[in-house]
Amino acid sequence: MAKLRVGVLISGRGSNMAALIRAAEAADYPAEIACVVSNKPDAPGLALAAAANVPTVTVSHRDHPDREVFDRAVAAALERHGVEFVVLAGFMRIFSPWFPTRWAGRLINIHPSLLPAFKGLHVQRQALDAGVRLSGCTAHFVTLDLDSGPIIAQAAVPVVAGDTEETLSARILRQEHRLYPLVVRWFAEGRIAVDGEKVAVQGVPRGATLLFSPEA
Ligand code: GRF
Repeated sequence: MAKLRVGVLISGRGSNMAALIRAAEAADYPAEIACVVSNKPDAPGLALAAAANVPTVTVSHRDHPDREVFDRAVAAALERHGVEFVVLAGFMRIFSPWFPTRWAGRLINIHPSLLPAFKGLHVQRQALDAGVRLSGCTAHFVTLDLDSGPIIAQAAVPVVAGDTEETLSARILRQEHRLYPLVVRWFAEGRIAVDGEKVAVQGVPRGATLLFSPEA
């Protein structure tokens, strides 16, 4: 069967992108990374992608007069590479309504908190300040509202005494790298069904859409 052609949008480090590229290198993985698009020309993830022979494109938001014009240029780059499914991986631009509408049901994000808790920026700091005992990450569909689309899967980690923003972020990130390739696999296998705000992953027990790592 043809592999799902995935486009990954980044703005920086690109460790989630790298996890997806690694997963897609396996012969039995049902998706391939068709291209990586960055809005920042100096995003370190671009070099990682190029080293893995994945096509890269820079579409700088600075070269476009408004959000929708920028969004349309990103979509055009994705279309040129035959992308069918878009994955945000540390992409730090807010879309105009046009982009999530254009890719509705085919656009996902990973966020470093257990949504709906802690939206926006510095969410690990927010979690520490709130004194929660568990945090984690959430893979979700992207809709018009920031960090709010239907939740596909989550991974939970403990928050331990003495944690800093850095230690908690690193613990969550290790789970992001497990969760995101799994979610993209499910999508490529046609298992993901959305019903309003609820997502069912067919053939996968509901419990398997929550990973838990007790590692501190
Ligand atoms: C990750 O923590 C992700 O959850 C958030 O941005 C960060 C991106 O990291 N959306 P990387 O660029 O994938 O390393």
